[in-house]
Amino acid sequence: MPTITNIEDLRKIYERRTPRMFYDYAESGSWTEQTFRENTSDFSQIRLKQRVAVDMSGRSTKSQMIGEDVAMPVALAPVGLTGMQSADGEIKAARAAEKFGVPYTLSTMSICSIEDVAAHTTKPFWFQVYTLKDDDFMRRLFERAHTANCSAIVVTVDLQVLGQRHKDLKNGLSAPPKLTAKSIANMMTKIPWGLEMLGTKRRSFGNIVGHAKGVSDPSSLSTWTSEAFDPALNWDRIAQFKQWWGGKVIVKGIMDPEDARRAADVGADAIVVSNHGGRQLDGAVSSIRMLPSIVEAVGKDVEIHLDSGIRSGQDVLKALALGAKSTYIGRAYTYGLGAMGQAGVTKALEVIHKELDVTMALCGETDVKNLGPHNLYVPKGYD
Ligand code: FNR
Repeated sequence: MPTITNIEDLRKIYERRTPRMFYDYAESGSWTEQTFRENTSDFSQIRLKQRVAVDMSGRSTKSQMIGEDVAMPVALAPVGLTGMQSADGEIKAARAAEKFGVPYTLSTMSICSIEDVAAHTTKPFWFQVYTLKDDDFMRRLFERAHTANCSAIVVTVDLQVLGQRHKDLKNGLSAPPKLTAKSIANMMTKIPWGLEMLGTKRRSFGNIVGHAKGVSDPSSLSTWTSEAFDPALNWDRIAQFKQWWGGKVIVKGIMDPEDARRAADVGADAIVVSNHGGRQLDGAVSSIRMLPSIVEAVGKDVEIHLDSGIRSGQDVLKALALGAKSTYIGRAYTYGLGAMGQAGVTKALEVIHKELDVTMALCGETDVKNLGPHNLYVPKGYD
């Protein structure tokens, strides 16, 4: 095993270990993948300000998200099909997050169910919901999340229709995978992954299989989304979810100041500035580029989180300096999970924590809560 020093190391191991269909599912964006690429490259356009001769002892990355204490302002984003990256992947990721002291968000499209994750963890996790046409089913999902003691729901609002992901279409993505000569041949070369999968019964969508009304084939992601997702989502519906749930609601997928205002007005406890990791509207700007205008519009009224493109602690610091209270990682922990299971998710969190801590120190800061625009270098003409 090579020495792992950064998230890219985990991605390389993950790529070697995982069947193409599931690797491509994570490591891709929609259409031309322009937004997917710019989510990361735009972070590298931002420059930090070095400060020296500041007492760097006693540093803290501790913070809060929606009133919950977190070891660092980085949560695990909802990621569908996590349990196909590693057997029982959602349980492994949730356990790693719990041990580290950061929130875990379980996707509607998970392999392990809400109950599976609750049975294997001790702290509350968050549950992500998509808006489905079937209200009864949605209310049942909320009830299940309540029973599982989830402390918040994350309502994802940027997927009324699915952004076309060419790789998934070409691979015929489904869970469990459809057995074709190509998929069998590929899976045969991924022996440790295959053995792990044989050892678990959790190989299809745990939250929706057996519940979804009028959906012909929940095993296929694109069929499920086009049949079950509600294209008629509006702000009244989001307000209704808040009422049904009765607890903390995070609205995920905001990329416009006016939408941010609407989300604050319907009572969101936090919003996530996110373009779904470049998987929905290709050609949208990166979320880090959009962040300042959203902070300006609603920063005083609602807690602002950000995801899409975070691959390092430096990226986390830049998002916080630009006004996000906290961040999420999606692919960064998925790489870890696919590479090394639970230990890989822990490794991803450790890498990001270390980078955040050291970068903070080199910027002359000792507390993550004090980061701000003063930590960023603003060019004065020459460059
Ligand atoms: C996602 N994302 C996502 N979001 C969501 O609300 N529900 C979901 O089921 C999924 N599924 C999903 C699968 C995979 C493989 C990825 C990579 C992403 C989006 C996710 O929550 C988050 O917004 C992005 O992952 C953030 O971008 P980075 O950190 O992956 O660049």
